[in-house]
Amino acid sequence: MSIAPKARPNVEKMSGYTPGEQPRPGERVVKLNTNENPFPPSPRVVEAIRTIDPERLRRYPSPSAEDFRRTAARVHGVSPDMIVAGNGSDEILAMAVRTYLGPGDVFAYPDPTYSLYPVLAEVGEVKVATVPWAAGWDLPVDGLLATGARAIFFANPNAPTGTLVRTRRVRELATLFSGLLLVDEAYVDFADENSLNLVREFSNVMVCRTLSKGYALAGLRFGYAIAAPAVVSEMNKVKDSYNCDAIATSAAAAALEDQAYARQTWEHVRAERVRLSEALHRRGWQVIPSQANFVLATCPDGNAAAIYRALKGKGILVRFFDKPGLQDKLRITIGTAEENDQLLAALSA
Ligand SMILES: Cc1ncc(COP(=O)(O)O)c(C=O)c1O
Repeated sequence: MSIAPKARPNVEKMSGYTPGEQPRPGERVVKLNTNENPFPPSPRVVEAIRTIDPERLRRYPSPSAEDFRRTAARVHGVSPDMIVAGNGSDEILAMAVRTYLGPGDVFAYPDPTYSLYPVLAEVGEVKVATVPWAAGWDLPVDGLLATGARAIFFANPNAPTGTLVRTRRVRELATLFSGLLLVDEAYVDFADENSLNLVREFSNVMVCRTLSKGYALAGLRFGYAIAAPAVVSEMNKVKDSYNCDAIATSAAAAALEDQAYARQTWEHVRAERVRLSEALHRRGWQVIPSQANFVLATCPDGNAAAIYRALKGKGILVRFFDKPGLQDKLRITIGTAEENDQLLAALSA
C-alpha cells in the first residue's frame, strides 16, 4: 500500500471531538449521556417526513432552507434575512469560526464549556483564550474583554454545568465588546430567559439554536443562527451550497410550527429536573442548579469514574469527563420519570 498523504500539521496534532457513546439501534439502554429530549418529536414532524413529495428529493433543496427560515422568522418575530440554517448547530458554530476567525486570531470563551469549541479552533489555527467562569458561574466579562479576542462564544445555559447567565449580564458584555459575540443557546428551551432580544439591539450578537434538544430531533441534524442581516449575509458566503436537505428542512419547519407540543416536553423536563436534583441531593450528591435538560452532580465519594462504570454495567449511560475539575462529577441528562427512577434505583443499589 502507498503512504497516506500528510494532513495539515495542525490537523495531524489534533485528536478531534469525542462524542458521547451512541448505542446501536435497538440496543436497550437508559440513555442519559448526550442531552437528548426523552420524548418523541411532534407528530407533525413525523407527518412532514412521511408525506414528502419525491419530486423534492429529485431536485436540489433550497440553498438557504427558505421554508424553514420563513417559519423560524415568524416564530421568533424577526425577518427571514436574520436567519441562517445549518446541519445541526455544530455546523453553525463551525461556519461562525470560518467567517469571523482566521489563523492567529484570538477566540475567547469561558471554561469549562462545550468541548467542540477548542476543536473548531484547532482546525482553523485560531488562538484560544479560555477564561474561568466567575464566582457563581457568572460571565467573566472583564476577563473575556482582556483577552483582546476577535470573537467570544459562550453556551447559555452552559454545558456541562447547566448554569444560566442572565440577559442583563449578556447585554453588559455586548455593550463593551465589538467583535462577534456568539450566544450558543442549544439548551435555552429549558431555561427561564434567552438572549434573542439582544440580536435586535446589537449587530455583533449571534444567537445559535438547535432542534436537537428542545424539539427532540438530534438525529435529524438541524440548527440555526439568528443575527443581524449583515452577519447572516457573511455566513452565507462560507456555508456549503446545499447544507440542509429537503427532508430535514421540512421536518424542522414542522417542529417549530408545533410550539404547543414542544412546550409540553420542556415543562416535563423542567419538572423532572427539580425532582431528580432533589433526589440526588438527598443521596448526598451536590447538584449545580440547572437551567438545561441535564444536571452536573458531584458524587458523594468523589469517585465519578467508578459510578459511571457501574451504571454502564447496568445499562444506564451518563457522561463522565476525565478532565481536571470534572473528575468527581457526572453529567446526567434528564430522562422520562421512569428513566430517572431507574437511575435513582441503580444509585441506591
Ligand atoms: C452547548 C452545545 N452547543 C451545541 C451543541 C450541538 O448541537 P447540535 O449540533 O446537535 O445542534 C451541543 C450538543 O450537545 C451543545 O452541548
